[in-house]
Amino acid sequence: MPITAVTGAASGIGAALCQQLRDAGHDVIGIDRANSDINVDLSTPAGRQQAVSEVLERCNGVLDHLVLCAGVGVTAPSCGLILAVNYFAVSSLLDGLAEALGKGSQPSAVVVGSVASVQPGADKQPIVELMLAADEAAALDAANQANNPSMAYAGSKYAVSVLVRRQVHEWAKRGVRLNVVAPGVVETPLYQASTEDPRYGEATRNFVAPLGRGSQPGELAEVIRFLLSPQASFIHGTVLFTDGGMDAMVRPSRF
Ligand code: NAI
Repeated sequence: MPITAVTGAASGIGAALCQQLRDAGHDVIGIDRANSDINVDLSTPAGRQQAVSEVLERCNGVLDHLVLCAGVGVTAPSCGLILAVNYFAVSSLLDGLAEALGKGSQPSAVVVGSVASVQPGADKQPIVELMLAADEAAALDAANQANNPSMAYAGSKYAVSVLVRRQVHEWAKRGVRLNVVAPGVVETPLYQASTEDPRYGEATRNFVAPLGRGSQPGELAEVIRFLLSPQASFIHGTVLFTDGGMDAMVRPSRF
């Protein structure tokens, strides 16, 4: 049975995914701050390194699937933290586990992005170039200076999607498919906290998908499982919006 490592395993989308994978017989290695198989703080280089080492130990250096789901939203204590978890933890774990995935069976990795990545102006921010240049100190500093959680979040999700798309050749050479799932609204603690935020609550509540509802974590988990599976054997480097039509609503003529 496949061995799958999942970050953000203790809550929301990650928890739903772990449950579905375990029900399907996968060997799951959950990673989160607490209540998981590997308990680490992915906002720090030391925590990321520990996560990589412990995953490699548990899977004996051969990993079939990796899902990077851990994330923080606009209510995070600082904008730097948003970049540290949503971008730098993802890039570190992709780098640190790429070789083990290359030895896996029909290997595949999925990064959880967001429809926020298409928010106007998300791509034009200086923090995006700093993230993609792997300059963590400068990126976190710039994000904290700008102190705009919504743009920090959108920028982190845009940058992580670009990171994936820039690596299509490298990962294909290793034989590993790598994709992004971009959710819209998912009824999780992260979303709930955003709806109650004094600055963003009203806008968050009013941003409703054409399908007229938010999604359940299990609906995202199903899509991630599809991307991991052999049924998705020719999908590589794509950003799969799973957002009830939000992306199409925001930018109907761009895709
Ligand atoms: P959630 O808050 O239910 O789960 C996120 C998990 O990440 C938590 O278990 C949390 O402990 C973990 N995490 C956060 N910081 C961490 C750290 N420093 N070290 C280790 N683990 C850490 O949130 P949800 O909604 O399930 O989010 C999962 C992903 O989906 C995130 O990347 C989020 O940005 C993304 N997303 C969520 C949307 C939503 O509407 N809920 C919409 C679009 C994207």
